Amino acid sequence: MEYLVKSGSPEKQRSACVVVGVFEPRRLSQAAAQLDKASNNFLSGLVRRGDMEGRLGQNLLLTNVPDVLCERVLMIGCGREREFNDGAYRQVLAAMISRLQDSGAVEAITYLTELNVKGRDVAWRVRDAIISVAGSLYRFDSLKSKQDSPRRPLRKLTLSVPGRRDLGAGERAAEIGGAIARGMTFAKDLGNLPANICTPSYLAQQAQQLAGRLQTLQVEILGPKEMEKLGMGALLSVARGSRQEPRLIIMHYQGAGAKARPYVLLGKGITFDSGGISLKPGQAMDEMKFDMCGAASVFGTIQAVAELALPVNVIGMVAASENLPDGNASKPGDIVTTLSGQTVEILNTDAEGRLVLCDALTYSERFEPEAIVDLATLTGACIVALGHHAHGLLGNSTPLINELLAAGNGAGDRAWELPLWDEYQEQLKSNFADMANIGGRDAGTITAACFLSRFTKKQRWAHLDIAGTAWKSGEQKGATGRPVPLLVQFILDRVREHG
Ligand code: BES
Ligand code: MN
Ligand code: ZN
Repeated sequence: MEYLVKSGSPEKQRSACVVVGVFEPRRLSQAAAQLDKASNNFLSGLVRRGDMEGRLGQNLLLTNVPDVLCERVLMIGCGREREFNDGAYRQVLAAMISRLQDSGAVEAITYLTELNVKGRDVAWRVRDAIISVAGSLYRFDSLKSKQDSPRRPLRKLTLSVPGRRDLGAGERAAEIGGAIARGMTFAKDLGNLPANICTPSYLAQQAQQLAGRLQTLQVEILGPKEMEKLGMGALLSVARGSRQEPRLIIMHYQGAGAKARPYVLLGKGITFDSGGISLKPGQAMDEMKFDMCGAASVFGTIQAVAELALPVNVIGMVAASENLPDGNASKPGDIVTTLSGQTVEILNTDAEGRLVLCDALTYSERFEPEAIVDLATLTGACIVALGHHAHGLLGNSTPLINELLAAGNGAGDRAWELPLWDEYQEQLKSNFADMANIGGRDAGTITAACFLSRFTKKQRWAHLDIAGTAWKSGEQKGATGRPVPLLVQFILDRVREHG
């Protein structure tokens, strides 16, 4: 799909379709009013007759509108103007795409990007439109024997901005939006792949391919032998039950001078989480192929950052393993020694994410990062606490937490902070090792972060628990590509401040 940014009157567009908004009740947006005027009140006539109330997501496709140059006019209901926020804007764009896809128009120009979204500017609207449109068009059907694509799919979408002076910001926003959208698509594709294809070594290959495509990316990959030598007893203990070897994948993006401290993004890459010997119940176990969505968002983010050639150093790390039961698998009660030297009693083999992450967190110390952010589908408890809308956010640096919260708000990919107080640390006590890998039923998301905090003492660190946000269940089952928008925004903000 090709995206263009343009400014100009709707009645003068020689396009297959012009898209305009109508607010409830029956109020034409500015672009709709312009078309109305040019067509001698054609649109307001329809609205008055009751054909378009303006309810959120409603649509009306018109052909042969008099005295305009376009072949079609698509009116989209936008709901109440006062309530037109991020969510309404995204719904309106989704309604536009679904109607355009079976309209027969192969290109269109949309004026929805000119609508006022509460607290958002033109650049945000252009960027978010591209992300929304790409999200609506996304299909994962490469593993179906037949793909059912629309007869005449949309190929080019022009986004209108109010004035010529908005063109510069609009075009940059389109570039950023395109990079984020491609990053999300990449993350979704990896997430949606089944675990018999998407293994730890498959992820390592993906990193190598990415580095082959992007000159600014250098890849380093550790296998079990290197992990053994280093002493990554926790990561290795998770992989013991699997025939697939673990991988620690390190992607170095260099966009700034060699001395600039990097931001490290670390993703949990459990390509399938059966629970191990502490086996999960069978219900929806297939969804545990999504347990590498943290890793997927690292891939998507580093691709976007490299495509945008941002002047910053970023290291993308992925701790990849399967978690399966086997004669050689870890057992409850086993004690392992982590790379940090601290010992861990594995009371539940299903709390494996923190075990692969802790050794990767210690490993990242050697890069002397400005900050490290990990992304992990870490706890079911996070879904209980926050549902499917906000990522859980915890960490040891208030400024870093605030930067991530702001990035999430800015990108419309929001996180919510949970307390990482010392009081919770006590739940990790073990009679036999330095700590246990679980902290009991209460505050499961917090005690998981407490565990990680013991491996990040030397770094500015934050942790995003994306268990509730990384994929959808049910009819719309599939990876969401989150938190790629938050992470790209976070890096963009760092460049703007320090670059
Ligand atoms: N990958 C799961 C967390 C998860 C579960 C994410 C369901 C999304 C949906 C993680 O490895 C896990 O199993 N966590 C356990 C921890 C417990 C044993 C302390 C959990 O949440 O039950
Ligand atoms: Mn688990
Ligand atoms: Zn897991």
